[in-house]
Amino acid sequence: MIRVEGLEVSYGETQSLWDVNLEVDRGEAVAVVGSNGAGKTTLLNAIVGMLRPRKGQILFDGHRLIGLSPHQVVRLGIAYVPANRELFPQMTVLENLELGAYCNIREKGPLLGFIFRLFPRLEERKRQFAGTLSGGEQQMLAIARGLMSRPKALLLDEPSTGLAPLLVQEMYRQLQQLRDEGLTILLAEQQVPTALSFTERAYVLENGWVRLSGKSKDLLEDPSVKRAYLGVA
Ligand SMILES: Nc1ncnc2c1ncn2[C@@H]1O[C@H](COP(=O)(O)OP(=O)(O)OP(=O)(O)O)[C@@H](O)[C@H]1O
Ligand SMILES: [Mg+2]
Repeated sequence: MIRVEGLEVSYGETQSLWDVNLEVDRGEAVAVVGSNGAGKTTLLNAIVGMLRPRKGQILFDGHRLIGLSPHQVVRLGIAYVPANRELFPQMTVLENLELGAYCNIREKGPLLGFIFRLFPRLEERKRQFAGTLSGGEQQMLAIARGLMSRPKALLLDEPSTGLAPLLVQEMYRQLQQLRDEGLTILLAEQQVPTALSFTERAYVLENGWVRLSGKSKDLLEDPSVKRAYLGVA
């Protein structure tokens, strides 16, 4: 469904991604893991059209994404939940959700029904300003707003950042429900064990290069992954 080929991205003189190749099949959950500055956000930003790569190809469902604007990428069926969530704090939960449905406003009613079944807490708080929600609720709202565009694939950057461990578990349970409904998921995480436990396959990025890739359960057992990311001597 998503195919990245030979991707290279630079910020001015500094190159941040080198010959990155990645694939996500329909219905699959895939992780991109790696430490600070590895290039995870850069990769997601390039896929959703927020950065123009200097080389390579990005395909989604057979469409070439490079050169498209972020809203054209949304229309093709990709929703992006950025690390800083980019909610509108002075708007209500409901208004934030409605903004997510800007490209299919006619389906707003049924979509809200679906979202409130998945996140009952958001329905309870729908008249509250987004800025007054807890960190966990804000992350739920950011995911829910992405779902309002009826995406085929959901991209998440560091979804567990800033959440207490119990909330991280709850959020991943909700993502699991979305997977069960057939949604394709690509997520970037610094919390390597969490990401590897949730996904089928993963890519390990280091300094802009894919150093390792494979089944997540194999990577969890890989000695170099254990040493570098799982705190095992
Ligand atoms: N806007 C920018 N201008 C210049 N350099 C940037 C910019 N954004 C990122 N970089 C550089 O690109 C490299 C990759 O950064 P990126 O944010 O993609 O990493 P990351 O894996 O998402 O890190 P983190 O886990 O901290 O979010 C880093 O060296 C970073 O300094
Ligand atoms: Mg990042």
